[in-house]
Amino acid sequence: MNSIRRTWLPYLPEDVPSHCEHCADVATFELSLGCPRLGAAVPELRIDPDMGEGYRIFSKDGKVLILGGARGVLYGAYALLEALAAGDAPPEGVQRPFYGMRMLDCWDNPDGSVERGYSGRSLWFEGGGFRWEPRRIRQMGRMLASVGINVLCVNNVNVHPEAEGLIEDAGLPELARFAAALRPFGVRLMVAVSFAQPMRHGIPTADPLDPAVEGWWAGRADAVWRAVPDLAGFLVKADSEHNPGPFTYGRSHAEGANMLARAVAPHGGALVWRAFVYNCAQDWRDAETDRPMAAYQTYAPLDGQFDDNVILQVKHGPFDFQVREPVSPTLLAMPDTRLALELQLAQEYTGHQIDLYAMNPMWRALTGDLPPEKVVAVAAVSNLGRDDNYTGHPFAAVNLYGYGRYAWNPQVDPERAIRRWARLSYALPDGQEEALVQALLNSRAIYEKYTAPLGLCWMVKPGTHYGPDPWGYEFDLWGTYNRADRDAVGIDRTAAGTGYVLQYPPALRKRYESPETCPDALLLFFHRLRYDYVMRDGRTLIQRIYDDHFEGVEAAEAMAEALAGLDLPEPDKTEARERMALQLKNAREWRDVVNTFFRRLSGADDAKGRLIYN
Ligand code: GCU
Repeated sequence: MNSIRRTWLPYLPEDVPSHCEHCADVATFELSLGCPRLGAAVPELRIDPDMGEGYRIFSKDGKVLILGGARGVLYGAYALLEALAAGDAPPEGVQRPFYGMRMLDCWDNPDGSVERGYSGRSLWFEGGGFRWEPRRIRQMGRMLASVGINVLCVNNVNVHPEAEGLIEDAGLPELARFAAALRPFGVRLMVAVSFAQPMRHGIPTADPLDPAVEGWWAGRADAVWRAVPDLAGFLVKADSEHNPGPFTYGRSHAEGANMLARAVAPHGGALVWRAFVYNCAQDWRDAETDRPMAAYQTYAPLDGQFDDNVILQVKHGPFDFQVREPVSPTLLAMPDTRLALELQLAQEYTGHQIDLYAMNPMWRALTGDLPPEKVVAVAAVSNLGRDDNYTGHPFAAVNLYGYGRYAWNPQVDPERAIRRWARLSYALPDGQEEALVQALLNSRAIYEKYTAPLGLCWMVKPGTHYGPDPWGYEFDLWGTYNRADRDAVGIDRTAAGTGYVLQYPPALRKRYESPETCPDALLLFFHRLRYDYVMRDGRTLIQRIYDDHFEGVEAAEAMAEALAGLDLPEPDKTEARERMALQLKNAREWRDVVNTFFRRLSGADDAKGRLIYN
């Protein structure tokens, strides 16, 4: 039998239990076999249903006890094992998750492909339906449980026709089987559904106010929850990128979401409705429509109109998971709506799990602008796949681990999360661990420097979203323009421009409105500036663009050198080295294309006389 890659859980045995029916059984198993350091003093588990997902670890009469709800003891067991494996004392005290729903959104399709997946094919779909290797799924369950992820949406938000079958009678037994495989790990399934699905069943419309439509969904929900009684809910991408939705029938998104919410409510299900709505067929000549404004325009007026079991899932920025975006104003504008913050672990715009890009520092900065009490749930697009190491780049696992930590506590120190992951995964000597931690901590800043400058976004190749193409999106339909010309670059999103900045509450509006107070990193997101604009540090804008691109590549080269010296186990060492070579190629390509692009437009020379191609 092939061995299982254990990611950040190498201190646990390869095999994981298949026999458990209760979460507590997994906890007992892991505790008793998991850590040789525990020896005879295996901790005692005590279930206190009132503690729900929380747990308390304490010592009594020389024995360690873990008290918690059924899921709480599971999380407590992993927390204890992790601390011991990292060389820390048992983490005594009470822990409770900040977000009740900590979701992994998987863009897996029944044919086995994964939209924006960079780790191989789907871990559980192939050939039109569920097909999985039990040991690998159990290991995945263990990874998720060890960091507290408690909901997994099994299929792509773009619901392929075959995926509609997941909630139809023929598909339910398989869905139930998969739910049972993950249940011992405290993970509940969710299914992404198509708003127009009733039309597959002889109903001529998907109008949410049509009684036949409402009746069909209610009946379907009954059948689905009969098969999977603990299903977490349905997830819907409606009126977004050609998906059907209530707009077709002149209905609002509250009317659409509430109809589905009523169907799932009797079963305790949530209806997660994505707020990724914008005009994806824009004419580039239209300078009035400004894509980042779209979600707020659609949803802010609906605040207070959604049913209690609706969760509106909003991407963290107003565009689409770019390297640098301000926090989405929609997340700040809906105090009477239950919101989910949506992140993306799959490195779609952030290096395809080839380039290093550790995300915890970015999420932490985001939380600074987002009072977390506004949000009840957090979701992240998965970076998992069938590759041996689950995440393509072996270091990309830091983002799944770090996401679990962030979802449990958004105040988690990014450095602590990254260091923990490095220590658990590799147990390197001190200096080497430090080199890995520093590389990961700086990885986003490095990637940002050699790609699109100063919050400009969308200079990536259309379609694949890897590699540079500064005007690739300039004359297209997606509403993503930089409008670079010989004098200036960027979109004016101030009150005098598109007015986007007015969507923010006063403090943020004030910060972003003027180039003098706007953080450099977002300067070109909010402002259109001349190349000779003088930045706070005295450099011109064009010089800053050149400098960043040269420095980004130099930093990537230094990072490659530092990482080459790590005594990593194989095959991680080879995989990391091969990917780093590709990252350097990509970084140099970005540097040269972006610098040449701006030099050709502006005619400005680099003050430091470095090589910019003609
Ligand atoms: C991006 C991504 C799509 C995805 C979409 C979404 O546009 O490129 O593949 O479907 O986001 O989040 O729905």
